[in-house]
Amino acid sequence: MSDQPTAKNGLSRRGLKDLEEMSGRVAILLKMFANQFDAKSNPDGIVVLGIADNSLCRTELVEFFTSPGRLQLEPRDLTYADHFYASTRVLKAIAGLYNDVPDGLYSEKDWKPPLKRVEEGHILVGNGATEIIDACFWDLCDEGDGVLLSAPYYNAFDEDLSFRAKVQIVQVHMPEPKSGSGSDAKEPKASFAVDIIKDYEDALQKAKAKGIKCRAVLICNPHNPTGGIYPRETVVALAKFAAKHDLHLVMDEIYARGCFTTKAVPNPTPFDSILGIDVEKEAGLNPSHVHVISSASKDFSINGFRIGIFISQHNPDLITSMGANARFAQTASPAGQLFASLLNDRKYLAWFLQENRRRLTITFDKVTEFLSHHGIPFVPSNAGHFLLIDLQKYLSDGEQKRDGIAGQEAATGQESELTPERELTHKFIEGGVMLAPGSQYHYPAPGFFRMTFSIEPQALQVGLSRIEKVLGLPSWITSQPPVQF
Ligand SMILES: Cc1ncc(COP(=O)(O)O)c(C=O)c1O
Repeated sequence: MSDQPTAKNGLSRRGLKDLEEMSGRVAILLKMFANQFDAKSNPDGIVVLGIADNSLCRTELVEFFTSPGRLQLEPRDLTYADHFYASTRVLKAIAGLYNDVPDGLYSEKDWKPPLKRVEEGHILVGNGATEIIDACFWDLCDEGDGVLLSAPYYNAFDEDLSFRAKVQIVQVHMPEPKSGSGSDAKEPKASFAVDIIKDYEDALQKAKAKGIKCRAVLICNPHNPTGGIYPRETVVALAKFAAKHDLHLVMDEIYARGCFTTKAVPNPTPFDSILGIDVEKEAGLNPSHVHVISSASKDFSINGFRIGIFISQHNPDLITSMGANARFAQTASPAGQLFASLLNDRKYLAWFLQENRRRLTITFDKVTEFLSHHGIPFVPSNAGHFLLIDLQKYLSDGEQKRDGIAGQEAATGQESELTPERELTHKFIEGGVMLAPGSQYHYPAPGFFRMTFSIEPQALQVGLSRIEKVLGLPSWITSQPPVQF
């Protein structure tokens, strides 16, 4: 963009940059959201399998949240929160969740609670993990500093780290997960094995040589977009790496309570939260350098409440400094009270967490049965709402072209390269189903797509049947009994 001020409706250069961002990719996404499939009201709408959303228990959750007496607002909820930036009651409920409710696939008996009990003062609440990530890296880094992040990674980390905080992502290339179909589909263990530390060392040295000062390692565990889980020994090795180079270790554990078993991987790698690991003793890492990010969005299927969680148990200065940014993104008290009421109703919470995992297993198994039937390789996931599918054989091998259709280009009026992967993405959208192309996640090879399976069964069936049509596969899914819980 030129340095000359432009007078487009009086916007500043910053404003123009925002306008460009909002009229491109975001506008396309919003258009798709506005035209989402609904069996009754919008049967021709797009089945969105490209967003991490879990609607498997939505009906029950709506019943729970709207049941009489559930929302108990008090006069103090109508003023500013008594703690930054949520009420003490909400912080207490979140602390209770971390102290008492097992994550991963652990039973009460086998689970190791946090090494140090989580207290209200260890927690910062904002309006989503998105905001928490922005605030965290704003305060851990200066402009131009680096954060090590293994690729492929959750696509929004790009904006979350760079949009305001202007942090550079230093990519660490994880061993590519192997795809397989039927009984060949195996848990992608090599991508999360201790060996990856040498790739971190390598990436750190390369960044140093370019003059980039790395301040932190960001780990998404369980991982988006693969749905894989880091074994405890790798988490400890990453903590040792952080200690060796005086880095912060920021763990995005937003999928910690959404781990599930499947027919493909009945005994997945157990998830161990960093909060249960003695990083000082086992890795020599100063615990003031360990931070956890989570949210109500993913594990509790309530993206709309906009509640993000940050836990740092040994760094009160960081919590306080993040408050400066968090004040621009405070959560609303009714959302906070309803979330707290879910967390405090331990009987219902236990039912929900278990039932949610059961439904994730059922839909995952259905989708992988579909993929295996059609010989489409996939990478099994054991957490989150999605899995990677390998559509390399469906990519056109034609040359790259210029395009101005269904993608970002249409909205911005810009032309850009139509790669075979992008071409297939467009074909899916034109066929009424959206899948997220691997290039968005910095996946190294073209042709991988992240596919969400945690959607309501009828919509899932329609989505899979549209995939069959777009790929020219014989119709199969509609002859199958629909998923039932
Ligand atoms: C790994 C990861 N972190 C953060 C977020 C953002 O979540 P929120 O809705 O709380 O902003 C997402 C959303 O998909 C995610 O997958």
